[in-house]
This record gives sequence, structure tokens and C-alpha cells, in this order.
Amino acid sequence: MRIECPHCHKAYNIPEERIKKYGDHVAFPCPACKGRIEVHLGTETPQGVHPHRSTPQEPVGETLKKRILRTVSDLPPMPQVAQKARELTMSDKSTFSDLARLIETDQAIAARVLKIANSSYYGVMGSVSSIQHASVVLGMKTLNELLTLACASSLLGAELKGYGMNAGDLWRHSLATAGCARALATKKNPSLVDDAFSAGLIHDCGKLILDRYILERKQAFEEFMKDGQRSFLEAEKKLLGFDHAEIAAEVCEKWQIPKKLIGPIQYHHTPSRLNSNELAHIVHAADAIALMSGIGSGFDGMMYQIDPKAMEFLRLDSSQISVLMAETADYVEKTLSSL
Ligand SMILES: [Fe+2]
Ligand SMILES: [Fe+2]
Repeated sequence: MRIECPHCHKAYNIPEERIKKYGDHVAFPCPACKGRIEVHLGTETPQGVHPHRSTPQEPVGETLKKRILRTVSDLPPMPQVAQKARELTMSDKSTFSDLARLIETDQAIAARVLKIANSSYYGVMGSVSSIQHASVVLGMKTLNELLTLACASSLLGAELKGYGMNAGDLWRHSLATAGCARALATKKNPSLVDDAFSAGLIHDCGKLILDRYILERKQAFEEFMKDGQRSFLEAEKKLLGFDHAEIAAEVCEKWQIPKKLIGPIQYHHTPSRLNSNELAHIVHAADAIALMSGIGSGFDGMMYQIDPKAMEFLRLDSSQISVLMAETADYVEKTLSSL
């Protein structure tokens, strides 16, 4: 039986008897791209088997969520150096030189940290020659921020065909949200600056997981959103039974992201569900401002607005939003120019 992967289109010949051993409906990961291949025996001719077709019998809601959560382990882990750095920065005894030594143990990350350190945004253009030097010039806090950026850029750079995002789009949107969240926290509550930046950077990581399921249901998603009145977020809830923000919370658990960031990430589209959690409102507003600015958005980016309750909670007005949009665009442009 000829089976073709719907994701990478690699074809395989598998004896029908071998598939029948597992029943009428078999699902397995593609050996080449790890995408999900499903075979429904008896509903297709052997030559014409299309490995995956969105059918009304496909699970949604809790059943699908459980299945999807099993694939969270397919995601690359947060680099070990990021986890150790978190422990180091929480300890009173460690110095910035300890952090620099730790970063130097991962050469790929260290090279990326140096590249960003030399960008125009961090103000030391072309003059930082080593991680130790960067730690002296920039200090522990900024060095830790650069490390977070370096780790996230490799995780969030993927193309998301289901969401209509090219390679690098999610990364640009995440960077814009992080930059805007930091700018907003600086104005509203400076004690939240670092958390706002980190939460903004990874708030949409659930999209990395959901993308393949959306691609498999492309037709249904397109049909649901065809009149331009409904967003991807509404389509996720309607057609899958949950959204990328819920899945993001699970991914963050796996990456051992601090608990105080997980709630704001989980509710970044519905911050009032966390009552007066200021970080959740900041991440929500920053996400909407990044989307309204059109930086790295998918095809429905312009449909998202700041929740009026969040505007009120953060005491935001339209002139402040215009300033934040300009600051965000400037931050993204300057940081990207170094990468
Ligand atoms: Fe989102
Ligand atoms: Fe977002």
C-alpha cells in the first residue's frame, strides 16, 4: 500500500497486512518529518490512500487535547543553559562572571548572545568581543535577557503553514510582544519588566504545537474564517475545542518556565480571567499592539484588539498606544538587524 505523508509528501510502501494488524484506523509519525500520518482502511482504495483527511469523526476537545499533549514531548527542550542560568540568577551568591562562564559552555548560544550584544539596540555596537566582556559591559540582568533571546530565537523561528506564517514570522511577533511588554511594564510597573519580557517572548509557543493540527484541518479553518469576520483564535476553539494559549501553558510546564509566567501566558487573550493580574494584562496588551503593528503576524493579525477592560485596567489611551507601537517597531528592527 502506497502512503504519502501529508506534511513532507514523502511516499512509503507498507504491506497492507502489517497495517491491518493494528485495526481499521492507524496513526503513526512520519519517519522523515515526524508529522502525523493517519490511514483509514476500507474507506480508501489502496493506491489512492491519502494518509490524512479531516473527517467529521476526528476527535476534538479533551480527546484531541490529550493526543496533542502527548506530542509536546516532540518539541525541542529549552536549552539546558537557559534553565541553569535561571537558577544562577535566583541565587544571591552568583556573580555575572558565573553567568558568563555558564553561557560559554554552549558555543552556539554563546555566539548568538555575542551577536545580539553587538546590536545597535544594546548600545555596544561591534565592541563586545567575549561573553566575559559582555557581562562587564552589560551587567547580569541584560546578559540574562540576551541569553533568553538567543534561546528563544532558535525555538520560535519555524515556518507555521497552518497559521499562514513564514519562517521567522512567529519569532518577529514574539520579539515585538516581548519588546512592547517590557516598554509597557517600564511605564506601568517597573518591577515586572523582566517577567513581561520573558512572558511576551514565549506567549505564543502553543502555536508551534497546534500548527500541524490546523494544517490537517485547513479546509475547515478556511471555511470558518472565510468571511473575514472570525479570527484564528475563534476557529481554534470551535474546531479543536481549545486554543493555542491553553497548549502554551502545557509547553511552559515542560520547559520549566517559572509558574508566575504561566498564568499570564495561558490567559494572554483573556487577561480578565486572572482578575487583577497585572502581568497578564501587560502581555495581552503587548500582544495586541504587536499584532496591530503587523510585525510577523499571520493572515488575521489585524483582527485582534486590546480588550477594553485591559485598556481601563492599565490606564492606556490611544496616544500611549501609538507611542508603544513606534517603540516596538524600533526595538524589533534594531534587534533583528543584529541577527
Ligand atoms: Fe496568542
Ligand atoms: Fe501573539
